[in-house]
Amino acid sequence: LRRLESGLVEASLAARESNLSIGGKPVTLLTYGGMPGPTLRLREGETVRLQFTNHLTQVTNLHLHGLHVSPEVDDPLAQIQPGQSRMYEFTVPKGSAGTYWYHPHIHGRVAEQLYAGLLGLIVVEGPVDAIPELREAEEHVLVLKDFAFSGSRIAPFTPMDWMNGKEGDLLTVNAVIRPTLRAQRGTLRLRILNASNARYYRLALENHPLYLIATDGGFVEKPVELRELLLAPGERAEVLIRLTQAGSFRLQALPYDRGAMMMHGGGMGMMNHQGMGGMSHGGEQSTLAMQGMMMGMGPSRLETLLTIVAPPNPKPLPLPTSLATVERLDLTKVAATRRFELGERMMQAEFFINGRMFDPGRVDVRARRGTLEVWELINKTDMDHPFHLHTYPFQVLSINGRPQPYRAWKDTVNLKKNDVVRIAIPFRDFIGTTVYHCHIVEHEDRGMMGVLQVE
Ligand code: C2O
Ligand code: CU
Ligand code: CU
Repeated sequence: LRRLESGLVEASLAARESNLSIGGKPVTLLTYGGMPGPTLRLREGETVRLQFTNHLTQVTNLHLHGLHVSPEVDDPLAQIQPGQSRMYEFTVPKGSAGTYWYHPHIHGRVAEQLYAGLLGLIVVEGPVDAIPELREAEEHVLVLKDFAFSGSRIAPFTPMDWMNGKEGDLLTVNAVIRPTLRAQRGTLRLRILNASNARYYRLALENHPLYLIATDGGFVEKPVELRELLLAPGERAEVLIRLTQAGSFRLQALPYDRGAMMMHGGGMGMMNHQGMGGMSHGGEQSTLAMQGMMMGMGPSRLETLLTIVAPPNPKPLPLPTSLATVERLDLTKVAATRRFELGERMMQAEFFINGRMFDPGRVDVRARRGTLEVWELINKTDMDHPFHLHTYPFQVLSINGRPQPYRAWKDTVNLKKNDVVRIAIPFRDFIGTTVYHCHIVEHEDRGMMGVLQVE
């Protein structure tokens, strides 16, 4: 990253096959030069010229997840062939200080490319970071990602992986298995990304609350005290931790049931389970279905992700009393209200939005720049799906009719089974074509994506 005069930043990234080691074992991944890729530290208002080169032997591209930049630049349908480069030039929006990330976006290949390690963080800094209680905190990024290997290679995707999204038994934080973070200061500021394809993290720190200060799209208005924090795939959060005593404290992922098939008790029990409608179409699927029942997942196990060691006499900073102003959207001026139903044909590993699979040649939603829309998202499947919209940050208005306890900008929101989630989206600044999709990227690859055109 080179910072030139007059607010111009030049950076470059390349995707390549990389040999590294995880947990002392040599592995071959696809990366942007490391796992995770280099963190791009940008500042609000600066113009970035990011040169991306594909050194893989397959097509890829680069998506700037969560950044409000033109879809002509951050084009989810762009194809960068092996050996080719593309320049991504954009301005970092004012007021966007927060934690974002980048990863590939080739429909049909996202799951395999992301799983293999193609991901990295984007940190945007802004005036709000100068608040003393933030500036004096000790900052760390935590990239949460699981892996499954077979030998030194990523384990091949199974039919079950395409249904549930691929998980793995090796849980890593910044590609390290159960690392120890030795804190020097009394307050930690953690920028946490769930970069897993499909694993959910229900985070809790022993003996300490988490103080949420930022979500996907930047700061909340004041810290929100949480006992636990659920991060679905694609989501980010920033939290403060106030260490008040010496000792070691485990950051844990508590058990979470995301409804990835219901298989306790094995085969027959599942025949009664609703939502396995796919089984009745297509008897040839039944062997797979039976295997699925036996092999499937229930709630995840409790896992320790990281151990935080507090300094001998920690002196935590006071909490910041206010962080930022999160705009209150004027809901009397809604130009359109739309419904999106998430559906699946599980045994075929086919996923739908409003009954249709992704078609890059079809525009599913036409919206007008400068308008505000309300989208009602409905999960008609038996599994959680994190719904993600590119380019245009949104606010969650309600989940199952319950208003949100605080205002926040988001780009990904989780829907549990049967959830009805209402979000408000201002279509600002850019026209162009972009997408919304499930961020269990196997589901995206298998159809759960739509095309949005803003005119
Ligand atoms: Cu991080 Cu279209 O996704
Ligand atoms: Cu995205
Ligand atoms: Cu999904």
